[in-house]
Amino acid sequence: MKNENLTLLAPAKINLTLEIFGKRADGYHDLRSLVVPVSLYDTLTFTLQEREIEVMCEVVGLPGEVLPLLPAPGDNLAARAARLLQETTGYSRGARIHIRKEIPIGGGMGGGSADAAGTLRGLNSLWGTGLSVEALMELGAQLGSDIPAMVYGKAVCMEGRGEKITPVPCCWTAGVDWWIVVVNPGFTVPTGDVYRRFRSGLTSTEETFINARFALERGDQKLACASLVNSLEVPVYDKYPLLAIVAGRLKSAGAAGVLLSGSGASVFAVAENHEQALAIEARMKRENGSWLWTRVAQILPDGVMVAHGPLEARV
Ligand code: C5P
Repeated sequence: MKNENLTLLAPAKINLTLEIFGKRADGYHDLRSLVVPVSLYDTLTFTLQEREIEVMCEVVGLPGEVLPLLPAPGDNLAARAARLLQETTGYSRGARIHIRKEIPIGGGMGGGSADAAGTLRGLNSLWGTGLSVEALMELGAQLGSDIPAMVYGKAVCMEGRGEKITPVPCCWTAGVDWWIVVVNPGFTVPTGDVYRRFRSGLTSTEETFINARFALERGDQKLACASLVNSLEVPVYDKYPLLAIVAGRLKSAGAAGVLLSGSGASVFAVAENHEQALAIEARMKRENGSWLWTRVAQILPDGVMVAHGPLEARV
């Protein structure tokens, strides 16, 4: 008997490096970025139904006044991903998609992209449409620049507009854990606006990128912290000085490395271990107010897309 539903966790991402090389004729920017999933998830539950695609969002403990920011259910990236998969494969049935949102919205952690990526993988499995991961990544590229990397779901180097994905094989020795503290100020940063404000004058070097990739492959946190770079920090910190203050406070709290996540508004700090991550989080709340949205999470170089409920297989 065919399974009628499937639940999976769609992880957020952070960019350990994000270098922008310039504007392209199509209006996008050429970039190169090391992207890794982290243990902060939206939970997606898919239920088979007749032809229609329906999306329901439940927001869990997110900062700020996020509800008005949620796209109308039909415009939601997960709904668009489901319709694209339906059209591409000619599959005749639909699905109800319940999204339990815990990834900050418009927070530079790929929340909407995680939902679209999870929907492509989840429905491809539930519907039995049999597309390869590469084919799903191509569909993802039609919906957003970060989606191919998130469909792949493990540490990658992303280039071009975001569609060229090279896996970064990570061989971390046993016991290497990489903890981060994420802080979100409760407002969103519109990605397109930040890219428009970007002016060239990149300060990072080829050596920085090579070091960052090597650090990610080996789980060498110290080297990674010395190689963190994000070309969007300048335009974002110029427009939102509060985020520069947050980054400064994370550094003062003892973090080994601090970086804006993607196009913001989240900022993350790399901690030496779990205890230090908890201590940094506690200090940020003590100094800034307990309302501050923070999460301690782990970097997941090998990704995780856990399915539970009736379908036990990983998707
Ligand atoms: O592809 P996505 O819809 O996620 O991109 C959002 C916006 O970010 C784009 O409309 C574009 O303005 C900007 N962007 C860019 N270059 C990229 C990715 C995104 O200029 N490589």
